[in-house]
Amino acid sequence: MEIKKYLDAGKIGKEAREMGAELIKEGASYYDVANRVEKYIIDSGAFPAFPVNLSTNHIAAHYSPLKGDNLYFKRGDVVKLDLGAHIDGYISDTAVTVEVGSNHWEELIEASRSALKAAIKTLRPGVEIREVSRAIEEEIKIRGFNPIYNLTGHGLARYDLHHGISIPNYDDGTHTRLLPGMAFAIEPFATNGKGHVKNGKGGNIYILLKTQNLDGFYRELFEKFKTLPFAARWCSHEENYLELLSSGVKYGILYHFPVLHERKKYMVAQTEHTFLMTDEGVIVTTE
Ligand code: CO
Repeated sequence: MEIKKYLDAGKIGKEAREMGAELIKEGASYYDVANRVEKYIIDSGAFPAFPVNLSTNHIAAHYSPLKGDNLYFKRGDVVKLDLGAHIDGYISDTAVTVEVGSNHWEELIEASRSALKAAIKTLRPGVEIREVSRAIEEEIKIRGFNPIYNLTGHGLARYDLHHGISIPNYDDGTHTRLLPGMAFAIEPFATNGKGHVKNGKGGNIYILLKTQNLDGFYRELFEKFKTLPFAARWCSHEENYLELLSSGVKYGILYHFPVLHERKKYMVAQTEHTFLMTDEGVIVTTE
C-alpha cells in the first residue's frame, strides 16, 4: 500500500542521511561517500530516488561526484547532503548540512534546521502553504540570515520528484493548501547572502526528457531510472558513457542539471524532510 511504501522509503532515507553525515570527514572522498550512501539505500530494499547530492559552501544543490574526480572534503567545508530513496516509485527526500571539522557556520546551519522545525509546527490538514513559508522566512530572518528565494520545497508523486505544488522559503502570497493525501518535501535554505541562486556548470545529474522511441543506451536508462534523475556515475559500466550522455543532451533526449550556487558565492545551509498529510495530521517520514 502506498502509505506503507512512503513510510518505508522515509525510514531508509533517514538512516541513509544519518549514516552519510557520519562519513563526511576531512579527507573523505565525495565519490566514496555518495557510493556508500547509495549502496546503503539499495541494501535496505529501496533505490536512490536521485543521485546523492554533495553540494559544498556556496553551492546550494545539484552536485553529484563523478567517477575518478579526485574530490575530497576539506576542513571548514559546509556540505549539504541531500538524498532520496524510493520504493516502487514512492519517494523520500531528505537533507542535512555538515560542517567539516569546524563550527564556524553553526548559526547558519541552525537557522535552516530551526526553520524546518518552525515549518513543521504549522503543518495541519488544509493549511495554506504561505503560512508554512512565512514561518520559514521569519525563523531564518530572526537569526540574521536570508532564505533562498528561488529554491522551494515541492510536491511528490510516484516516480515524480517535483510534482504539483511548490513550498517557497518565503511567503509568496499564494493560497494553495496542503491537503490530506499529499506527499511533499520542505527544504529551508539559509544564506548569509541576499538569497538567490543561479545556474552554474553541470553537476553530473541527468534526467530523461524523452521516454518513448528510445534505443540502446537511452532505452536502458529509461528501464532503469524511468522519470527520476540519475548520476553519470551510474552509467560508468558503459565504456563511452560520458560521450553518450553529452550526445543525449545535444539531441534533446536528456537534461543535464546545472549546479545551483548562491549568486555572489555566499554560504548556504539546507535541511529537509519529507511529509505525508493525512486527515489526522502530518507524518514526517524522514524524522
Ligand atoms: Co527536495
